[in-house]
Amino acid sequence: MGEKGIMLGYSLPDVEITGDPSLLNTVWYNLLSNAIKYNKSNGSIEISIEEKEKSVLVTFEDTGIGLNHKEKERIFDRFYRVDTARSRTVEGTGLGLSIVAAIVKLHGGQIHVYSTEEEGTIFVVELPVS
Ligand SMILES: Nc1ncnc2c1ncn2[C@@H]1O[C@H](COP(=O)(O)OP(=O)(O)OP(=O)(O)O)[C@@H](O)[C@H]1O
Ligand SMILES: [Mg+2]
Repeated sequence: MGEKGIMLGYSLPDVEITGDPSLLNTVWYNLLSNAIKYNKSNGSIEISIEEKEKSVLVTFEDTGIGLNHKEKERIFDRFYRVDTARSRTVEGTGLGLSIVAAIVKLHGGQIHVYSTEEEGTIFVVELPVS
Protein backbone atom coordinates (compact mmCIF):
# COMPACT_ATOMS: atom_id res chain seq x y z
CA MET A 1 0.00 0.00 0.00
CA GLY A 2 1.44 3.40 -0.96
CA GLU A 3 1.27 6.73 0.80
CA LYS A 4 -2.27 7.78 1.52
CA GLY A 5 -2.13 11.20 3.18
CA ILE A 6 -5.24 10.63 5.24
CA MET A 7 -6.50 13.44 7.48
CA LEU A 8 -7.69 12.46 10.93
CA GLY A 9 -10.16 14.62 12.81
CA TYR A 10 -11.64 13.88 16.19
CA SER A 11 -13.90 15.09 18.93
CA LEU A 12 -13.32 13.02 22.03
CA PRO A 13 -14.93 14.36 25.22
CA ASP A 14 -14.43 12.32 28.40
CA VAL A 15 -17.18 9.82 29.00
CA GLU A 16 -17.50 6.97 31.44
CA ILE A 17 -18.48 3.45 30.50
CA THR A 18 -18.04 0.11 32.18
CA GLY A 19 -15.97 -2.27 30.16
CA ASP A 20 -12.76 -4.14 29.57
CA PRO A 21 -10.16 -1.58 28.40
CA SER A 22 -8.11 -4.08 26.46
CA LEU A 23 -11.10 -5.55 24.62
CA LEU A 24 -12.44 -2.07 23.85
CA ASN A 25 -9.01 -1.06 22.54
CA THR A 26 -9.29 -3.96 20.12
CA VAL A 27 -12.59 -2.47 18.90
CA TRP A 28 -11.12 1.02 18.32
CA TYR A 29 -7.99 -0.40 16.74
CA ASN A 30 -9.93 -2.53 14.26
CA LEU A 31 -12.32 0.25 13.25
CA LEU A 32 -9.50 2.75 12.82
CA SER A 33 -7.30 0.36 10.87
CA ASN A 34 -10.21 -0.48 8.56
CA ALA A 35 -10.93 3.22 8.07
CA ILE A 36 -7.31 3.64 6.98
CA LYS A 37 -7.02 0.44 4.92
CA TYR A 38 -10.24 0.96 2.95
CA ASN A 39 -9.87 4.71 2.50
CA LYS A 40 -8.79 6.57 -0.61
CA SER A 41 -5.66 8.61 -1.13
CA ASN A 42 -6.05 11.99 0.53
CA GLY A 43 -9.19 10.81 2.24
CA SER A 44 -10.23 11.59 5.77
CA ILE A 45 -11.40 9.95 8.97
CA GLU A 46 -13.51 11.52 11.70
CA ILE A 47 -13.81 9.94 15.11
CA SER A 48 -16.29 11.28 17.60
CA ILE A 49 -17.77 10.45 20.97
CA GLU A 50 -21.22 11.59 21.92
CA GLU A 51 -23.42 10.91 24.93
CA LYS A 52 -27.03 10.12 24.16
CA GLU A 53 -29.49 9.33 26.95
CA LYS A 54 -28.21 6.11 28.51
CA SER A 55 -25.57 5.34 25.93
CA VAL A 56 -22.31 6.50 24.50
CA LEU A 57 -21.93 6.63 20.73
CA VAL A 58 -18.46 6.23 19.26
CA THR A 59 -18.45 7.02 15.54
CA PHE A 60 -15.80 6.27 12.91
CA GLU A 61 -16.50 7.95 9.59
CA ASP A 62 -14.31 7.45 6.54
CA THR A 63 -14.25 8.67 2.95
CA GLY A 64 -13.27 5.30 1.57
CA ILE A 65 -14.45 2.81 -1.00
CA GLY A 66 -17.71 2.12 0.83
CA LEU A 67 -19.83 -1.00 0.77
CA ASN A 68 -22.87 -2.03 -1.22
CA HIS A 69 -26.01 -3.46 0.33
CA LYS A 70 -24.99 -7.09 0.02
CA GLU A 71 -21.48 -6.52 1.33
CA LYS A 72 -22.83 -4.56 4.29
CA GLU A 73 -24.87 -7.57 5.36
CA ARG A 74 -21.81 -9.82 5.43
CA ILE A 75 -18.96 -7.77 6.87
CA PHE A 76 -19.52 -9.06 10.41
CA ASP A 77 -19.25 -12.70 9.25
CA ARG A 78 -16.02 -14.38 10.20
CA PHE A 79 -13.39 -14.49 7.42
CA TYR A 80 -15.57 -12.43 5.08
CA ARG A 81 -13.67 -9.93 2.95
CA VAL A 82 -15.12 -7.94 0.08
CA ASP A 83 -13.47 -9.16 -3.09
CA THR A 84 -12.24 -5.96 -4.68
CA ALA A 85 -8.93 -4.93 -6.14
CA ARG A 86 -8.43 -2.92 -2.96
CA SER A 87 -8.98 -5.77 -0.52
CA ARG A 88 -6.64 -7.99 -2.49
CA THR A 89 -3.86 -5.46 -2.01
CA VAL A 90 -4.39 -4.87 1.71
CA GLU A 91 -3.72 -7.50 4.30
CA GLY A 92 -6.39 -8.94 6.50
CA THR A 93 -7.97 -12.14 7.68
CA GLY A 94 -11.57 -10.96 7.63
CA LEU A 95 -11.86 -11.61 11.35
CA GLY A 96 -11.57 -8.02 12.59
CA LEU A 97 -15.23 -7.00 12.43
CA SER A 98 -16.54 -10.31 13.75
CA ILE A 99 -14.28 -9.81 16.78
CA VAL A 100 -15.50 -6.20 17.07
CA ALA A 101 -19.14 -7.31 16.96
CA ALA A 102 -18.54 -9.98 19.60
CA ILE A 103 -16.82 -7.53 21.97
CA VAL A 104 -19.52 -4.90 21.54
CA LYS A 105 -22.17 -7.53 22.26
CA LEU A 106 -20.32 -8.67 25.40
CA HIS A 107 -20.55 -5.08 26.63
CA GLY A 108 -24.29 -4.99 26.05
CA GLY A 109 -23.89 -2.64 23.09
CA GLN A 110 -24.69 -2.53 19.41
CA ILE A 111 -22.82 -1.65 16.24
CA HIS A 112 -24.43 0.12 13.30
CA VAL A 113 -23.03 0.62 9.82
CA TYR A 114 -24.05 3.15 7.18
CA SER A 115 -22.31 3.24 3.84
CA THR A 116 -22.44 4.61 0.33
CA GLU A 117 -20.38 2.91 -2.33
CA GLU A 118 -17.41 4.99 -3.50
CA GLU A 119 -18.20 7.62 -0.86
CA GLY A 120 -17.48 6.15 2.51
CA THR A 121 -18.60 4.26 5.55
CA ILE A 122 -19.73 5.12 9.04
CA PHE A 123 -19.51 2.70 11.96
CA VAL A 124 -21.31 3.67 15.16
CA VAL A 125 -20.59 1.72 18.33
CA GLU A 126 -23.30 2.23 20.91
CA LEU A 127 -22.35 1.25 24.47
CA PRO A 128 -24.54 1.51 27.54
CA VAL A 129 -23.38 3.93 30.23
CA SER A 130 -22.82 2.34 33.59
N1 LIG B 1 -14.30 1.11 6.65
C1 LIG B 1 -14.52 0.23 5.66
N2 LIG B 1 -14.78 0.63 4.40
C2 LIG B 1 -15.00 -0.25 3.41
N3 LIG B 1 -14.97 -1.58 3.56
C3 LIG B 1 -14.71 -2.05 4.79
C4 LIG B 1 -14.47 -1.18 5.91
N4 LIG B 1 -14.25 -1.94 7.01
C5 LIG B 1 -14.34 -3.22 6.60
N5 LIG B 1 -14.61 -3.29 5.27
C6 LIG B 1 -14.79 -4.53 4.47
O1 LIG B 1 -15.22 -5.55 5.34
C7 LIG B 1 -14.30 -6.64 5.29
C8 LIG B 1 -14.23 -7.28 6.66
O2 LIG B 1 -13.55 -6.40 7.58
P1 LIG B 1 -12.68 -7.02 8.74
O3 LIG B 1 -12.13 -5.92 9.57
O4 LIG B 1 -13.52 -8.06 9.40
O5 LIG B 1 -11.54 -7.80 7.97
P2 LIG B 1 -10.17 -7.30 7.33
O6 LIG B 1 -9.92 -5.86 7.60
O7 LIG B 1 -10.20 -7.73 5.90
O8 LIG B 1 -9.12 -8.20 8.11
P3 LIG B 1 -8.61 -8.04 9.62
O9 LIG B 1 -9.44 -6.98 10.29
O10 LIG B 1 -8.85 -9.38 10.21
O11 LIG B 1 -7.18 -7.66 9.49
C9 LIG B 1 -13.00 -6.05 4.79
O12 LIG B 1 -12.21 -7.00 4.15
C10 LIG B 1 -13.49 -4.98 3.83
O13 LIG B 1 -13.80 -5.60 2.59
MG1 LIG C 1 -10.15 -5.18 9.69
